[in-house]
Amino acid sequence: MTQTNAMPFTLVLFGATGDLARRRLVPSLYALWCDGALPADWQLVGVSRSARSSDEWRAELAEILEDTPAEDFLAHLSYLTADATDVAALNKLPDTLGSQRCIFYLATRADLYAGITRALGDAGLVSEQSRIVLEKPIGLDYASAAGIEAGVRERFQERQIFRIDHYLGKETVQNLLVLRFANSLFENQWNHRFIDHIQITIAESGSVAGRGVFYEEVGALRDMVQNHLLQLLCMTAMEPPYALDADAVRDEKVKVLRALRPMDTTTIAEQVVRGQYTGGVNGESGYAEDAGVRESTTETFVAMRVAIDNWRWAGVPFYLRTGKRLPARTCEIAVHFRPVPHSIFPQQRASMANRLVFRLQPDEGIQLAFSEKRPGAAMDIRMSELSLNPQTLRRERVPDAYERLLADVIHDNQTLFVRHDELMAAWYWVDPILKEWRESGARPEPYRAGTWGPSAATMLLARDGRLWDEREIDDAPDG
Ligand code: BG6
Repeated sequence: MTQTNAMPFTLVLFGATGDLARRRLVPSLYALWCDGALPADWQLVGVSRSARSSDEWRAELAEILEDTPAEDFLAHLSYLTADATDVAALNKLPDTLGSQRCIFYLATRADLYAGITRALGDAGLVSEQSRIVLEKPIGLDYASAAGIEAGVRERFQERQIFRIDHYLGKETVQNLLVLRFANSLFENQWNHRFIDHIQITIAESGSVAGRGVFYEEVGALRDMVQNHLLQLLCMTAMEPPYALDADAVRDEKVKVLRALRPMDTTTIAEQVVRGQYTGGVNGESGYAEDAGVRESTTETFVAMRVAIDNWRWAGVPFYLRTGKRLPARTCEIAVHFRPVPHSIFPQQRASMANRLVFRLQPDEGIQLAFSEKRPGAAMDIRMSELSLNPQTLRRERVPDAYERLLADVIHDNQTLFVRHDELMAAWYWVDPILKEWRESGARPEPYRAGTWGPSAATMLLARDGRLWDEREIDDAPDG
């Protein structure tokens, strides 16, 4: 991660007073600076419509950064009060920007992206050296995403556009690449002959409080499934790329997205569960109250059974689920292998099949569950776990995903960013589900805050004779 040979840059952060900038982006930049990973010459210019001076912005950030930030770090920061779609306002940015290596980071509503890009171009601030970073979700459906993309691509070429999906910056996701493609052990098993099914869970214990306006419009399908969950699915299911370069990796991910079996009215009803949390048993607030609305059909939970129609994955279901106000904050990819074809041990059950779990949070690590003999005279079998936990093994700090991704933008490496065709393929697959929900007028199924979602999510697997990995997840400490 230490990359002091980075070229000088100016980062212009739109949406500088927003939640993401304060919680993730500035702290990650600070961590990079502390690690000596930034060049001597860099600037961060925060831009937002909320009026404040550079001194006031610096003081606000100084308060939220964990350690007292050195004055030297804050000296690189300045602030501009401006409507980012207004060319005249952008002209107040230092006019040296056009000739510098400038990274425009758009942490605003996505419907402003095309307008901001146009204004940047008209203000003469975009050059060959410029880069633009776009936060997800880009659009609310296929058509709006296509419109935003067309606007951005008028002024920036694909090699200049960094579409962030911060799950790709998580340590375990990259470790998944290494584990799969730097070890010969797994590749032979990584297909329908040996794998029974795969579960991918992103569970959050937190509510939507504080982000109600954004969330009410977006919902879990657009916020988590269209991007984070599908990206994790791609990393798990893709073919080996021919090289670790941006296009080779992204070519393989696009193939997975294109092989997703399309959903129609019947399969959506049978294979997609949509939920919304209500108040909990201990008086916890429900979604409408948290979002500040009277009533709502926005989903805070999605579970689905997904099929990938290719040779490797024929007949292997991928179960995806995500939700707010679940019992724990956890994220894992659990690969369930098939049981042995014929067991010579009478007490061995199908549930004792091998399972390889990539846990992304709260404690990043990898676990392999396997059967072994219980010590003693009897031939008793039990499940044991081999655990690879980078934090406890090496006692290293695991960097936040945004640190890794910001460093990649600074170093102009697009491998962990989403390409245009990938983004559109993901929307293309998700679109019929959005349409069906909109047109059917069906409401999400309620689930109590603090539970694992509506009972229909349990039924989704039960119908296939399977269970979600809840017992193990329940044991995970909340992060
Ligand atoms: C964001 C979503 O992309 O990811 C949030 O908009 C969600 O709703 C967040 O809470 C989860 O990220 P992480 O890294 O905390 O798991």
